[in-house]
Amino acid sequence: MPVAATQIEVLDLRHFSARQLRPLLEGEAHVWEQRLRWDYRSSTELLLQYLDSRILPGFVALDRGKICGYAFCVYEGHKAVVGDAYAVAADPDHALQITQILLHRLIELLDHSPNIERVESQLLLYDSGSIDEGFLHAGFTRHARLFMECNLSRGALNAATAARGRTLPPGIELLPWSANYYQAAAELIHASYAGHIDAEINDQYCSLHGSLRFLHNIVRFPGCGVFDAAQSWLLVEHSTGHLAGMLLCSRVAPEVAHITQLCVAPHGRGQGLGRVLLDHAMAQLLLAGFSAITLTVTEANRQAVELYASSGFRTRYRFDAMVLDRSVS
Ligand SMILES: CC(C)(COP(=O)(O)OP(=O)(O)OC[C@H]1O[C@@H](n2cnc3c(N)ncnc32)[C@H](O)[C@@H]1OP(=O)(O)O)[C@@H](O)C(=O)NCCC(=O)NCCS
Repeated sequence: MPVAATQIEVLDLRHFSARQLRPLLEGEAHVWEQRLRWDYRSSTELLLQYLDSRILPGFVALDRGKICGYAFCVYEGHKAVVGDAYAVAADPDHALQITQILLHRLIELLDHSPNIERVESQLLLYDSGSIDEGFLHAGFTRHARLFMECNLSRGALNAATAARGRTLPPGIELLPWSANYYQAAAELIHASYAGHIDAEINDQYCSLHGSLRFLHNIVRFPGCGVFDAAQSWLLVEHSTGHLAGMLLCSRVAPEVAHITQLCVAPHGRGQGLGRVLLDHAMAQLLLAGFSAITLTVTEANRQAVELYASSGFRTRYRFDAMVLDRSVS
């Protein structure tokens, strides 16, 4: 271990109050804004409330008595999700070392938790490969993911949409999001990710119950930005009332939208539905004054990556999703 890292003391997160952790978290919110154009302040406030209840499993790093990092996870039944890991130091490499020390302790804790069968982690602040060592050593599988961004401009959007000229097939209507379709939306998500690589990364996709939970997190909590019902769209089949596709959007900063979900029912794919949803969402966001859209996508999900890239999205970062599933080993 590098000399600098040995000065670091690691203590249980539950010994610390929100007041003590606030400066670190506010600094982190600034990094989120710089790197991902994400106003993280509402998430910070929510997290501080949880921290004050002293129930989150995790660790704090101290450098000569001063708080310099933290990491925590949340339990969802037999699964643990790494919530965050973040550290500061004068030297960025030293900050990464501290982050890795914290993650190492977290992984060790989870390894000794007999009820935890599965661990998932997606830490968007870290470039692919930069904090993976402890995870890989513990047997995690790595899936590369992309953070993509599109700067909205009327000229580029008009040209791209006109060139494609995609329209909806007869019998399918595009409607704004409505909570009346909540259950149908969860069913669509579940069906859309059957056998999909993203269901290996996020096991909520593997069941209807999990898909409802996923939807609940997006629509009701600010963890992925604030859900924007007016900028979220459904494709409804006239004859059956079933959903053929869906695009959900959140606001992550005053002028920045984040696509939290895009899916088309398996039987309706390859007919331009995904394209129509994305074109429509982008045009409406531009009209509503947004200047950029971001999203994350698994690199191996070629259809989706192609769709986004051909719509003007560019990869800004590559980060890793790490998964440990003890039930299959
Ligand atoms: C990604 C998804 C939404 C695309 O929906 P779709 O209705 O099948 O896509 P479209 O028919 O509108 O095709 C749009 C573009 O996607 C790409 N695409 C679609 N199917 C493809 C395939 N089989 N291979 C490669 N590219 C493909 C092409 O770039 C296509 O461009 P085109 O309009 O010039 O033909 C759909 O496959 C899906 O729901 N997948 C599962 C959920 C998912 O992965 N969501 C994205 C998570 S980030």
